[in-house]
Amino acid sequence: MTSRALPILEALPAAPGVPRPAMPDPDPALAEFVTDDQVQPRFHLWTLGCQMNRSDAEEMAGALLAAGCREAAGLEDAELIVINTCAIREAAEQKVIGRMGALSRLKAANPGLRVVLTGCSVRADNTAILGRRYPAVDLFLRPDEEPELVARLGLLAPTAPAALAPAPSFAPVRASVAATADRLTTTRAAAVAAGSVARAAGPRAWLPIIYGCDKTCTYCIVPFSRGPERSRPWDDILAEASRLAEAGYAEVTLLGQNVNSWGHDLPADPRFAQVRNGRTLGRDLPLDGRPDIAELLRAIDAIRDPDGRPAIPWLRFITSHPWDLSERLIAAMAECASVCEHLHLPVQAGDDTVLRRMGRQYSVSAYLELVGQLRAAIPGIALTTDVIVGFCGETDAQFAATLDLLRTVRYDGVFAAAFSPRPGTPAARLPDDVPAETKRERLNALLALQEGISRERNAAWVGRTTEVLVEELRPARGHGHGDAEGEGGASDGGAPLTQLTGRNRENRLIHLPGDASLIGRRVAVTIERSGPYALVGRLADAGAS
Ligand code: SAM
Ligand code: SF4
Ligand code: F3S
Repeated sequence: MTSRALPILEALPAAPGVPRPAMPDPDPALAEFVTDDQVQPRFHLWTLGCQMNRSDAEEMAGALLAAGCREAAGLEDAELIVINTCAIREAAEQKVIGRMGALSRLKAANPGLRVVLTGCSVRADNTAILGRRYPAVDLFLRPDEEPELVARLGLLAPTAPAALAPAPSFAPVRASVAATADRLTTTRAAAVAAGSVARAAGPRAWLPIIYGCDKTCTYCIVPFSRGPERSRPWDDILAEASRLAEAGYAEVTLLGQNVNSWGHDLPADPRFAQVRNGRTLGRDLPLDGRPDIAELLRAIDAIRDPDGRPAIPWLRFITSHPWDLSERLIAAMAECASVCEHLHLPVQAGDDTVLRRMGRQYSVSAYLELVGQLRAAIPGIALTTDVIVGFCGETDAQFAATLDLLRTVRYDGVFAAAFSPRPGTPAARLPDDVPAETKRERLNALLALQEGISRERNAAWVGRTTEVLVEELRPARGHGHGDAEGEGGASDGGAPLTQLTGRNRENRLIHLPGDASLIGRRVAVTIERSGPYALVGRLADAGAS
């Protein structure tokens, strides 16, 4: 295979609201790069960050594969490296910055290699520094420009739809996102219709329903990276859900930074005339005939198999901002057979002053009221959360209030991190006055407390039988681990030890001995042991679906 340098097409910025031009005629000098019979580059996609990035990566990989590219065995093997970044904390950005030297060496050894950097580290407000920070990178694409990846690399066949034509490179994020308001939503629909989303192997699928975030959490970079909220249309989501059901996915997760506000920006629709209002944390929501996530869950749940069971057996959604968690949504969760008994409900802090400084829009007591409503409506629901420790001005007493909140709620899992100031966010202008050492101590104290709570909550599963969606086969780590996390399963007849891993509806990680034939199936598992991070069990019987 001949290696070749990819051209990078820069398009002139279009004025907001002006339709995008069709893909320009290829420059004759580049003709060799755009003909179909050329050998397309091998690519490697390196994705960091959250589920949203993983879902975006499936779309980018699909577009590259549809253009005739092949996946490289690894980074060293690739002619095109696409880095899908996360900017949520400084450490996530450093992971990529720290690889620049190695990438430059790879490029020196292979002058045809091209590096694209996309994801949340690429924003309109930091274009001036991107080149210096990421010297090995040839092309920067903001998240809303990702559908243009193939076109901007000149890999698009001349007959490809104009919807994928290049967009301006560095127009201001909010203006250009407004101009492309339905661009991500339409390119997603096109990719789904073409069957080109390269979904990760396994029984679970992502389904993005809303892009961007309208919240103003003062510490958070996401609204700057991903722009304002744009809901995907009802019919597109239902069409994608139906395809996933037909394809046999056992679990689908609806994705967005704040899925609870899905639909607020869609036009009113006579089909939803009965949807007049909702209520969240004491606030009335004027829905005015627009669909909301409660309607959406009910509609996806109503897609049935010939036996009348939900065609997507397990339905999840992430992430939920407490401010937008409506009574209608809680009722839909309780009433839809497919909606799993788990909710990730980020709290961030257990003190009202800190919450106010974070711009979170709720008080601790309002949050606890929601927890009470959820537990009353959905008995046994598992709750997980996110916490930031050491936010600007957080005192010992305020941190102690967060520990108290953990003791009160007794979450099933907590994702905690030390506050990391993000340039450009409102909190970056506040003094980052909790010393690094104190942040570390608080993080360790919080994780130790939660480990004890998780250990106790997991111990309550021992002896119970629970349905597990088996996801993957993992080589056992052998015996000798006291912790459930590392335990391998014994196998009969001296065959190599194998261990299957999956989750139940409450999203608990469960290991069980078994073979690959169970992957993708839902099986009844009796829990025998537990640790803070996982349960270990055995098949309860031969029955599996
Ligand atoms: N949209 C979700 C929500 O409402 O919480 C979460 C989005 S964010 C991708 C995931 C988590 O990262 C947040 O819940 C928060 O705990 C954490 N996070 C965001 N910005 C942070 C920062 N500057 N420093 C430390 N953690 C941060
Ligand atoms: Fe960030 Fe807040 Fe939006 Fe979540 S809701 S993405 S924490 S701004
Ligand atoms: Fe990171 Fe962007 Fe997700 S900042 S956590 S990849 S939305």
